[in-house]
Amino acid sequence: MGKKPELATQGVRAGQKRTEFQEHSEALFLTSSFVFDNAAQAAARFTGGEGGFVYSRFTNPTVSMFQDRLAALEGAEACVATASGMSAILSTAMALLKSGDHVVCSSAVFGATVQLFGILARFGVETTFVSPTKVEEWQKAVKSNTKLFFLETPSNPLTEISDIAALAAVAKKAGALLAVDNVFCTPILQRPLELGADLVIHSATKHLDGQGRVLGGAVLGPAKLVTEQVFPFLRTAGPSLSPFNAWVILKGLETLDLRMRAQSAAALELARWLEARPLVARVFYPGLPSHPQHALAARQQRAGGAVVSFEVKGGRAAAWRLIDATRLISITANLGDVKSTITHPATTTHGRISPEARAAAGITEGLVRVAVGLEAVADLQTDLERGLS
Ligand SMILES: Cc1ncc(COP(=O)(O)O)c(C=O)c1O
Repeated sequence: MGKKPELATQGVRAGQKRTEFQEHSEALFLTSSFVFDNAAQAAARFTGGEGGFVYSRFTNPTVSMFQDRLAALEGAEACVATASGMSAILSTAMALLKSGDHVVCSSAVFGATVQLFGILARFGVETTFVSPTKVEEWQKAVKSNTKLFFLETPSNPLTEISDIAALAAVAKKAGALLAVDNVFCTPILQRPLELGADLVIHSATKHLDGQGRVLGGAVLGPAKLVTEQVFPFLRTAGPSLSPFNAWVILKGLETLDLRMRAQSAAALELARWLEARPLVARVFYPGLPSHPQHALAARQQRAGGAVVSFEVKGGRAAAWRLIDATRLISITANLGDVKSTITHPATTTHGRISPEARAAAGITEGLVRVAVGLEAVADLQTDLERGLS
């Protein structure tokens, strides 16, 4: 066998299936159902006795091209696409957990993920939240009924880094699965399965699409978890990815390698520039030597990623003044777009949690998050300089 293609090549080529028309670009199959030759074939397809497409809630060629391409990028045996990142997390939990089970979760995960584990408590699944960076807290939180470890690294918005390999070892010893939300890095910068994680979760809405157009998600890992457990939940419950969205994201994957490298390089340049601004108290970016887990990030990630957070002197008033002075960067909560975005986490993404919980999480009133896109860094600097002088 020849050498395995590089990630850049896999992003462009992996998973493509051509129809009899030999189209060069991947086809978009906008169809709810598929036709059978006869009743016997219909029966065989429904029971799984014969492979092939049945109904787009659970089988569609465009969705399957997206799944195969993302699986190749993550080095995963199997991938199930979902309607959004949240439905990927929900499908994982519903497929793998039952009443009486316990989850250990990083306290620095996306807000809706925290709320989702809160909803699952009503169904008898208990969750303990622990520090993303203190491995000993995960170890201490383990109970006899712990079934799942869940984390996101780098975290949002403070870019804290969890040690995937170390936590995979703790999870394994506890007989629990480790699921890693890989939204910030994507497989281009970080491959959690190679570091010992059991499952990778994606909000494809972010970098995988890359241009802020559609929602999508995915769960990746071994077939015995993804195909045999997560897929049957999706087939029955239906939080499925639409073929149109799959097609958009599939085309997004073709430029993912290029975008992640370019956006990370721009983010590093911007982070260094911000560190030198007198009105900036602190910059949070894993690519900076001043980041507390810089060495771990360098080991675990190919680059720092596209998100830079920083604290301005003067609290909320100064942060809002900076945000309101921008003319180029979009004031919106999304990230992973080629258009740079700016957010005030304390009053938006983290506005619904209590001030005490916010303070404990390190989300101060002066904190600003920039998700760096593909504009020239000099123009981003001009845009931010206005509010920093
Ligand atoms: C890290 C992370 N995980 C999951 C999600 C949820 O994804 P979606 O909005 O596609 O449901 C988000 C959304 O912002 C996110 O940032």
